[in-house]
Amino acid sequence: MITKQKGTYDIYGDLAKKRMYVNDVLNALCEKYNFGYIETPVFEASELFHRGVGETTDMVQKETYDFVDRGERNITLRPEGTAGVVRWFVENKLYGNLTDPVKVYYNMKMYRYERPQSGRNREFTQWGFEVFGSDTCEADAEVISLAYNAYRLLGLEDVKIQLNSLGDTESRNNYREALVKYFEPHINELCEDCQERFKKNPLRILDCKVDAGSEILANAPKTIDYLNEESKKRFERLQELLDLMDIPYDVNTKLVRGLDYYNHTVFEVTLRDSYALGGGGRYNGLVETLGGPSVPGVGFAMGYDRTILAMEEENVNIPINNSVDVYLLAVSDSEKETACYLAQNLRLNGFIVETDLMNKSLKAQFKSVDRFDAKYLIVLNDEDLQKNEVVLKDNKTKEEERVNINDLVDYIDMHM
Ligand code: HAM
Repeated sequence: MITKQKGTYDIYGDLAKKRMYVNDVLNALCEKYNFGYIETPVFEASELFHRGVGETTDMVQKETYDFVDRGERNITLRPEGTAGVVRWFVENKLYGNLTDPVKVYYNMKMYRYERPQSGRNREFTQWGFEVFGSDTCEADAEVISLAYNAYRLLGLEDVKIQLNSLGDTESRNNYREALVKYFEPHINELCEDCQERFKKNPLRILDCKVDAGSEILANAPKTIDYLNEESKKRFERLQELLDLMDIPYDVNTKLVRGLDYYNHTVFEVTLRDSYALGGGGRYNGLVETLGGPSVPGVGFAMGYDRTILAMEEENVNIPINNSVDVYLLAVSDSEKETACYLAQNLRLNGFIVETDLMNKSLKAQFKSVDRFDAKYLIVLNDEDLQKNEVVLKDNKTKEEERVNINDLVDYIDMHM
């Protein structure tokens, strides 16, 4: 037997229904914010992620699925959505004539070679969105509000935003210098990877999983102390806007996010201060890094797996329909023909209909009626059909009603 790969899973049954529900809620919300839908390819040139996400990030160093294809190209399965969407934005020159921001959302499978655990898989789905062309705090606030409202609409009442600012380039450089000064005397006490990170990108030491929890990391300088005046003002303005919108947040000065492209705003969404259900931030340099002009960007992505787990843990009522509206029982050929015709008609009018496809006996079909939890059943028989009638039975009350076939749709509609 060939089994599924570690960190992957099949989506079916109730889980599939839950995900479809989440999907519907999120898509409808994005339409309210006037975002357009986008899908980018599952695989891209490896360089896109190496340059975009950052060579020194854990994601690029340890987690990407890389391979050389039959044409000798270096290919990577997308580990996240932002780089691919930026590639699309640049490739299609959408930066020309930008009078309004370009706003897109996606719902895509991602691939990361991580150690699988609850809420962490190798193949997983992210719902995310990106906004290009606006460098305002209002754009950051719109993105944070969309992320926050998504969880609220899904029934997660206690979500909170963890908010921080990395500042502009000058602030980040000042911060980098401070980190180098701070870590230098401790460098031998850190893990091997961190010693490498120290040389290439000391900020990445802060999201090291090995040294997490160590005193050295806990006492490291904080981004907020290195923001220049303009970055500070901007961060304060964003907080004012979030206050106005009644969005709960904590300023978390330790939050740096694990990807290199961020500046200014970074944020994560947490439930009762546990792990991140989603994260995002501003990336004003990424379009340029990936070959476009200087165009600001800001976005967010939510993990489906963690969000659904959180909904289950919080006992959120996820509406799952496991019952059918009408079961048509038919045995003879002419009854089966009528079943085909009626099923077609009822389904086109919006009802969920089941009928026998296994040539089962009438008795066995009655068992199916209960298994499918049908609200109504119709036992087709040639005598009624000659009169153009059927007997519609309510499966709960067991009440029966003789209905003309032409009136069936209206009748069920009125009684459902
Ligand atoms: P990220 O923090 O790497 O950010 O991922 C966002 C979310 O995806 C996480 O908070 C988590 O819910 C989910 N996630 C990440 N890895 C896994 C995994 N192995 N299994 C299940 N869920 C996972 C990004 O990907 C950025 N592109 C977000 C962004 C969009 N920033 C700006 N725009």
